[in-house]
Amino acid sequence: MSKDISIKEIHHIELFVSNAKQSAYFYRKAFGFSQLAYSGLETGNRNSASYVLSQGNIRLVLTTPLHSRNWIGGHIRKHGDGVFDIAFHVDDVDYCFNEAIRRGAKSAVEPYNLEDADGIVRRAAIQTYGETIHSLISTNDYNGNFLPHFKEQILVEESIGLTSIDHVVGNVNVGQMDKWANFYSKVFGFKNIIHFTDQDISTKYSALMSKVMENDNGRIKFPINEPAQGLKKSQIEEYLEFYEGEGVQHIALLTDDILDTISKFRERGIDFLHVPDTYYDTLESRVGPIEEDISSIRKLGILVDRDDEGYLLQLFSKPTQDRPTLFYEIIQRQGSKGFGQGNFQALFESIEREQSLRGNL
Ligand code: FE2
Repeated sequence: MSKDISIKEIHHIELFVSNAKQSAYFYRKAFGFSQLAYSGLETGNRNSASYVLSQGNIRLVLTTPLHSRNWIGGHIRKHGDGVFDIAFHVDDVDYCFNEAIRRGAKSAVEPYNLEDADGIVRRAAIQTYGETIHSLISTNDYNGNFLPHFKEQILVEESIGLTSIDHVVGNVNVGQMDKWANFYSKVFGFKNIIHFTDQDISTKYSALMSKVMENDNGRIKFPINEPAQGLKKSQIEEYLEFYEGEGVQHIALLTDDILDTISKFRERGIDFLHVPDTYYDTLESRVGPIEEDISSIRKLGILVDRDDEGYLLQLFSKPTQDRPTLFYEIIQRQGSKGFGQGNFQALFESIEREQSLRGNL
């Protein structure tokens, strides 16, 4: 019996974007990320430019090609701006890579060394759904602030309270959810902690099925969605059409104070999914007592859901690029380990109540 592949955490998430300089400004000024490091022409990188941003334990890398011969341009042409790499921090890259391949994963990049004056990083990558990859990175012999060949270039912004990545959701094609859930289970030893069928998430207009996969230390949670038959095109189908394939649908970021975080987002003009006022009419009877002030929650348009273990507060951004593809979720957990499944139904019902008020139902 081979020992398990042990993934410590998400090292960073890399997005390919068409203008990394402007995207970096957006994530700094609107999302409160500070810049840590940079790679580009000024650092001797003649193929691409990358900005490394951080807040709490979250690290995002925004990368853009510097000429048309760079394959990254093809990725952006097909998918638009989006997530390319959910990179894993591991101790033993070679073991994890070889074992993943032995268990049926496809190689994206064979193990290699990256080296500069601050030390050595071992790195490899394997493929997951669509054209998305998981880099495997070991920084045990590295002392720099990010990775070799990045220049430390710090631009401090005031944090808006985002602390870590709660979960990263993948959208896959019809009939592919089980395949990818099994992939995470077989290759990485993740466990299926929640399974929603189309009966559970049954807004008639946006039916979906989802399995949530979690790693052994609980730090990584990957829900995998596939569209289900609904009356109209589901949001998953819309994503698959505009991303032109499978990919990351949303990144959920944790905060300890969602009221403060969402107020700051709102001051900065970030758009969130509109929550109809009628949603709040039944909120207290649905979720019971909560610590936060209901009128502030209503004013900021925050969603609340409760399960056996507690409750959570959450809100979904509008897509962060023109294509209706990647968006962000902001989430605060007060005991609940769920994903806000009660909100799907409540949101749908409140939309129906509004339709009914307009005489359109
Ligand atoms: Fe989510």
